[in-house]
Amino acid sequence: IVLLPGDGIGPEVVAQGERVLAAVAARFGHEFEFDTRTIGGRAIDESGEPLPANTLEACRESQAILLGAVGGPQWDDPSAETRPEQGLLQLRKELELFANLRPITAHSQLVDASPLKREIVEGVDILFVRELTGGIYFGDSGRRDGAGGEAAYSEMVYQVAEVERVVRLAGEAARQRDGRLTSVDKANVLEVSRLWRQVAERVVREEFSDLEYEVVLVDAMAMHLISRPRDFDVVVTGNMFGDILTDEGSMLPGSLGLLPSASIGGWSGAGLYEPIHGSAPDLAGQDVANPLATVLAAAMLLRYSLALDEEAAAVETAVNEVLDLGHRTADIAVGGPSVGTEAMGDLVVKQIG
Ligand code: IPM
Ligand code: MG
Repeated sequence: IVLLPGDGIGPEVVAQGERVLAAVAARFGHEFEFDTRTIGGRAIDESGEPLPANTLEACRESQAILLGAVGGPQWDDPSAETRPEQGLLQLRKELELFANLRPITAHSQLVDASPLKREIVEGVDILFVRELTGGIYFGDSGRRDGAGGEAAYSEMVYQVAEVERVVRLAGEAARQRDGRLTSVDKANVLEVSRLWRQVAERVVREEFSDLEYEVVLVDAMAMHLISRPRDFDVVVTGNMFGDILTDEGSMLPGSLGLLPSASIGGWSGAGLYEPIHGSAPDLAGQDVANPLATVLAAAMLLRYSLALDEEAAAVETAVNEVLDLGHRTADIAVGGPSVGTEAMGDLVVKQIG
């Protein structure tokens, strides 16, 4: 297991993820080997590159990767040659992790931490499947002269095969869940979305006729996600729409600090697991960040890359129990008492037993 702590609060939350994995190993009699490497801003400072060759190499040889977060204000200069985020994008691309699974589940104990009303968020259980290695993130981009001065462009491209594989993976996920699949696009405006829609519809018609299938425009989806989030089961969409909608969706359960994500290239094999939150530089080094998203990412790692279902469930149960006991980090405490990052890690480790 390669650990990529990264920047900001990354090292603090990954440390708790590692402890939880070690606790799982102890309880279930496994041996995990950890290898910590640099990525992001820290890697730029140390080696000039956001994804050093030895980090990529270690990731390629690993069975799974647990990442904290990358980025921070000191690397934000828009004219900089390299940016921390490039390290993450390159890693996803190099390992062909084309599907990003982002489960959005409202934990019943925490419904009051959501800015939305209880009757809207209670029972929310959505799995976003975001395409991760194509679209506008990886299209041609650059600067050129325009009639009105300097211009910039970023091309959004999808190939048929890229849409097929991610829709297929989302369809398989829907079959394991509630049997409902929603594809989100902007086909009323973008040609790339018209291709996406055609391909998605064909894949569903030919291979997933057992699913309830629906197509929603991305602007409408932004609205439905907060007006009737319970109506969705699996939602599949392109890279940028998925980036935006999952940040919006993260407010349903109340905190970004609870949401894990898995980037995979299929249902088995090496994957990259991370919290969906960012590096939160303002919170770094203060022992206040919520480690539960990373802990839950570690559970996804156990399930998808190591095929350790029982162990994954044990971690998820431990997190639930800790929440049931009333323990909260500051982000979900709604003004009540809170525990720090490490103390929250202790609680989960203790619960795993
Ligand atoms: C995410 C993040 C990344 C993205 C950034 C850090 C490159 O926002 O994982 O959602 O845009 O994909
Ligand atoms: Mg994002």
